Amino acid sequence: MSSWPDDPDLGPVVLTGAQIAARVAELGAEVAGDYADHPPLLVGVLKGAFVFMSDLARNIPLPVEIDVMAVASYGAGTTTSGVVRIVKDLDTDLTGRHVLVVEDIVDSGLTLSYLRRNLRARQPESLEVCALLVREGRQRAPLDLRYTGFHIPPEFVVGYGLDVNQRYRNLPDVRVYCGPAPVE
Ligand code: IMP
Ligand code: MG
Repeated sequence: MSSWPDDPDLGPVVLTGAQIAARVAELGAEVAGDYADHPPLLVGVLKGAFVFMSDLARNIPLPVEIDVMAVASYGAGTTTSGVVRIVKDLDTDLTGRHVLVVEDIVDSGLTLSYLRRNLRARQPESLEVCALLVREGRQRAPLDLRYTGFHIPPEFVVGYGLDVNQRYRNLPDVRVYCGPAPVE
């Protein structure tokens, strides 16, 4: 197995770990300012958001709570069908809570639009979204993101939580994936 530097499936670096860290610190400060009076419940969308949420949470100097849910979209390869299913639900009752959904990447926006509808039905006091990455030019649903880390070009990327076939999540940078199409 090849190591990161010479992995032929990895293309150019889109964001270095250092660039991400700097932006996540800014996002954390922004969230802390906005939620100073009512610390949020961070809802991480697994698995992709696990790295981002862990860094973001440590950059919010407030007593936040953390929960996770896992969703899977039906459909093959590197695109979303828009049909989403909850694989692991939250432990927390959202009634009256200030919920901040933490997402790795928004592509079509269909996953997010499903999640929003689903979570809003649970009567939170507020519901906002923080997405690390937004891929340009692909949105098929209104995004309405309260916080966005970066806009990236329309290429499939891996690293910092993002995978292909469950690999590359532990890559510290975000890089273009240029290997074979993933198997579903
Ligand atoms: P959407 O429903 O089209 O917005 O897709 C969002 C989900 O697809 C994300 O939460 C990711 O899990 C996955 N995804 C979209 N683009 C990428 C990518 O470039 N790399 C890895 N996963 C991606
Ligand atoms: Mg994924």
